[in-house]
Amino acid sequence: MSTLPVTLAITGASGAPYAVRLLECLNAAAVPVRLVISKTGWRLLDEELDIRSEAALKERTGDWSLVTLYADDDRGATPASGSAPSRGMVVCPCSMGTLASIAQGTTRSLIERAADVVLKERRTLVLVPRETPYSMIHLENMLRLTQAGAIVLPASPGFYHRPAKLEDLIDFIVGRILSHLGVEHAVGPVWRRGETAPTD
Ligand SMILES: Cc1cc2nc3c(=O)[nH]c(=O)nc-3n(C[C@H](O)[C@H](O)[C@H](O)COP(=O)(O)O)c2cc1C
Repeated sequence: MSTLPVTLAITGASGAPYAVRLLECLNAAAVPVRLVISKTGWRLLDEELDIRSEAALKERTGDWSLVTLYADDDRGATPASGSAPSRGMVVCPCSMGTLASIAQGTTRSLIERAADVVLKERRTLVLVPRETPYSMIHLENMLRLTQAGAIVLPASPGFYHRPAKLEDLIDFIVGRILSHLGVEHAVGPVWRRGETAPTD
């Protein structure tokens, strides 16, 4: 498995538990993580999980020896550079605000710039939006991003695996994200040959 780093951006959409579990899984898989959290992302971590500081986030996400946290207003940080090697980027959860900015290439924050770079370098960009219902503007932005090469992976867990607890629903989405990033994992339901295929 490649040890190229992943940029993980956490923005202000509901779904902080997905982000925390994803970071925990990337740490467990020894994947270097360039972490960027928007101002509203921090607010969601607080409102949904009582996580109010870097230390509190560390406590919930395992070994941080391969994690580097960057400030979202530092547009000159490593994830802003196309020449810095990377496996790609995931925005989880991805607010409609950040999604719109990436779709327009505005690059007004490190998260927006890093996503812009991933697209121009033709690397993997996974966006995990959480909104309902979608407006035409949301849908057009998602179409535009898909056409530009991004993977729009909505936080829409399935129920065919009979989830018994919240963690099963979270792992359903996190497993899909890890697969798209090319990280080997055993998170979430796995379809095996000979079984009835899931419908997603
Ligand atoms: C508690 C809370 C929950 C929110 N939930 C969502 C959401 O589920 N989806 C979304 O697109 N925006 C949501 N928003 C709005 C975004 O946070 C807002 O548009 C913000 O400007 C996004 O900034 P960011 O993308 O830089 O984090 C929420 C805001 C708050 C405070």
